[in-house]
Amino acid sequence: MTVPFLTPVIGADMDSVDRVLRDSLHSDVVLIRQVAEYIIAGGGKRLRPAVLLLAAGATGYRGTEHHTLAAVIEMIHTATLLHDDVVDESDLRRGHATANAQFGNAASVLVGDFLYSRSFQLMVGLQRMRVLEILADTTNAIAEGEVLQLMNAGDADLTEEAYLMVIQRKTARLFEAAARLGAVLAGADAPTEDAVARYGMHVGTAFQLVDDVLDYSGSTDAIGKNLGDDLAEGKMTLPLIRALAVGTSAEAAVIRHAVGGGGLTDFAPVMAALDRTGALAYAQARADVEVRRAAECLAGLPDSPHRKSLLELTSFAARRTY
Ligand code: IPE
Ligand code: IPE
Ligand code: MG
Ligand code: MG
Repeated sequence: MTVPFLTPVIGADMDSVDRVLRDSLHSDVVLIRQVAEYIIAGGGKRLRPAVLLLAAGATGYRGTEHHTLAAVIEMIHTATLLHDDVVDESDLRRGHATANAQFGNAASVLVGDFLYSRSFQLMVGLQRMRVLEILADTTNAIAEGEVLQLMNAGDADLTEEAYLMVIQRKTARLFEAAARLGAVLAGADAPTEDAVARYGMHVGTAFQLVDDVLDYSGSTDAIGKNLGDDLAEGKMTLPLIRALAVGTSAEAAVIRHAVGGGGLTDFAPVMAALDRTGALAYAQARADVEVRRAAECLAGLPDSPHRKSLLELTSFAARRTY
């Protein structure tokens, strides 16, 4: 299961990935099985494993280790979501109550740890030092990104540069690792591996930029999450950074108040400021830049259905509504 336009190329591979995921979640601890199953079976676009499978295919990989590694990537992603929803106090994901809403914060944190460490058990099974190195660095950077974001919460003076640093670590690095690992499995030469990794980094950055736009302008039904979660947490994302920079002093005051603790009580006036300043369009345009850069990174790859899908994935990252 993945986004529909990828099914013709990697649908069968993704079925194998789902099998690995399911087989890997065995534990004699009932709550672990319950929570893990709840979140893994709860859907999700499977974009990061898709990037890995596509990057492997586009660089000529012909084996089955990419199924395991794609499952590892999705497990890490799932662990970060379990933790993220606790930190963000979110209660809706993928159209259902979050695990923290359903089972409590403690269960979410602990099962997130279980998924992290289980993913490393799977990685070790592959016996490839380079793979371990990439994923150890990546998970560490994700944690740094989330902690950095926590430290930035409530700071209305956050710069665009500091914001980009956070989203690169918390989100883009995992896309980058997914892409790089596909090329590593294929034994691609260093320039190809780096180009594919850069593709992942740009797509991942665009993906989070759009996520931050959708947190204001999406539909709850489509994104399966509550709108306004970022504002509620005092998160200065690019739409707010832009509106603060170009808005009137009254608009700036509204944003400062909301980020400083006002949260959702200020949602309507903040939305009005975002609308009037074109801040959402600005953030969207920034995502479009990333997506163009991502596409450029594919220039050196030979034509193939996998390469074509990587390209289509860039458009999806920029235009997605869910
Ligand atoms: C959600 O990622 C977390 C972000 C980095 C924004 P996805 O939107 O890929 O989550 P699922 O797996 O499809 O639910
Ligand atoms: C992405 O940030 C979280 C991770 C990379 C773990 P968000 O907080 O914006 O993600 P959502 O909106 O909760 O999915
Ligand atoms: Mg969140
Ligand atoms: Mg979000």
